Amino acid sequence: MAATAPADVPAIAKKWKDKRGSLIMALHDLQGRYGYVPRDAALELGKLMGVPLARIYEVTTFYNFFKLEAPGKHIISVCMGTACYLKGAPELVARLSEKLGIKAGETTPDKQFHLQQVRCIGCCGLAPVVTVNEKVLAKVKPAEIVDQVYACAKGA
Ligand code: FES
Repeated sequence: MAATAPADVPAIAKKWKDKRGSLIMALHDLQGRYGYVPRDAALELGKLMGVPLARIYEVTTFYNFFKLEAPGKHIISVCMGTACYLKGAPELVARLSEKLGIKAGETTPDKQFHLQQVRCIGCCGLAPVVTVNEKVLAKVKPAEIVDQVYACAKGA
């Protein structure tokens, strides 16, 4: 788990604050981004949206959809928004799937990697974009994606 809340929590809070049903949608965004609802992020989200932490836990524990634990140590998110899709995101998913032996939405048996497809993460000018945990990889080339992901996993 990250020691500090992920950097994009304020953007998610801003997007959903004051909208109807906003807490659930904000939590959906968080999980879409990280594969689960990180505790630090939930705390920060609650503060920014003026929602008590107890209410956040009520929602996340009521709906089976929400995961409170990371599905894998390293979460690889391939953006499938339009810009990234058109610039080759499907091939990035295919390369990672082949190398890791899992499909999008799955975790490797050793729990080291979770691969997921996400919607636009708001940096289309860098397409195609992949994130590994909180690190953003920009203008990723299919031939380099696997090495880049492993480098991130090693902390490079
Ligand atoms: S479409 Fe991928 S960052 Fe916007």
